[in-house]
Amino acid sequence: MTQAVYLKFVMVLGVVCMKKFFLIILSSFIFLALTGCGVYEEVNHNANDVREKTKQRIIGILMPKRDSLRWTKDGDNLRYEFEKRGYKVDMQNSENDTQRQQDQLKYMIENGADIIIVAAVDSEALAEVLAEAKTKNIPVIAYDRLIMNTDAVSYYVSFDNKAVGRLLGEYIENTFGLNNGAGNFNVEFFAGSVDDNNARIVNDSLLEVLQPYIDNGQLNIPSGQIDFDQTTIYRWRNEESNKRMGNILENVYGGQTPPDAVICASDSISSGVISALEAYGFRAPDYWPIVTGQDGDVVAARNIITGKQSMTIFKDTRVLSAKCAEMVDDLFNGNIPDINDNMTYDNGEIIVPSYLCQPVVVTKDNFKEVFLDTGYYAPEDVGL
Ligand code: BGC
Repeated sequence: MTQAVYLKFVMVLGVVCMKKFFLIILSSFIFLALTGCGVYEEVNHNANDVREKTKQRIIGILMPKRDSLRWTKDGDNLRYEFEKRGYKVDMQNSENDTQRQQDQLKYMIENGADIIIVAAVDSEALAEVLAEAKTKNIPVIAYDRLIMNTDAVSYYVSFDNKAVGRLLGEYIENTFGLNNGAGNFNVEFFAGSVDDNNARIVNDSLLEVLQPYIDNGQLNIPSGQIDFDQTTIYRWRNEESNKRMGNILENVYGGQTPPDAVICASDSISSGVISALEAYGFRAPDYWPIVTGQDGDVVAARNIITGKQSMTIFKDTRVLSAKCAEMVDDLFNGNIPDINDNMTYDNGEIIVPSYLCQPVVVTKDNFKEVFLDTGYYAPEDVGL
């Protein structure tokens, strides 16, 4: 190769290399620009996330107690329903303590709850604190139990409490054949708590069915206790129902014979009654009264299997919590929540628009279909 040819070769090579160099620089720019965009997008996306999170709505939930599975299931199902919809849940439990619930409510109002769901410990004790929620425009939903004497309740979601009482009464009516004239049955009544609005409603509608049979003597009440003031069980506590049943068995029945039926307004009440009966030596299913209940609590479910309890009025907490979450969705989306009762629940200040779910009677006969087939309980939960 001559020197001239060699020089030409080097120049051509140089031009090619420069082109390549340019191409490399250019593509690097393009690459950086693109990846830069990616980074930007990434950052921007995270910022949106953060913004989403900071405006994530907070649902304050106040539950009354954890001593019966009914309320823990309510709590769990509410959490599930709200979290599924992307809300943040702040759930507090007051263990049946009125003051504690008032404090929890105050805290939620002052600390950014966007909506508050309350199952009141004492229906009459929240009006003052709720006035603050109203001034802050925080909607309040009374859950299962109506909150009395306040216009700060936006909605009430519950079960049809009148139906609960009616179903209890009809169960006794049908089991004894009262409408066919059968009679002379000894029964005792155990009503719900004096500070729970539901308790009186259930009791009144139960007596609407049974009062005629009491009046005409088909039903006797050996204790003579029929007025709500006499039969009420404070805070629905099993210790209280246990004590009262023990007294009645001892002082009225001489510890010898059980009544024909003990009409209990809830499963917590019936569990106290059942242990009193056992303490007096009675054993289910023979020589054992009809015992009723309400809720479909796991203890009651087990007692239905063993024959210690005849029935319960099941209030499916999955249905109630889903309805409550739907109401909240509607409120946030500017829709009017679905209600099916706009006249029954007068809380002394306003008639609270309500959605009432339907309770279901559960006995041994439909136990599997209602509790097991729907997955509410697994067989091992109820001792099967
Ligand atoms: C509920 C009942 C429950 C009772 C005791 C009432 O307010 O409506 O379902 O049995 O509280 O917990």
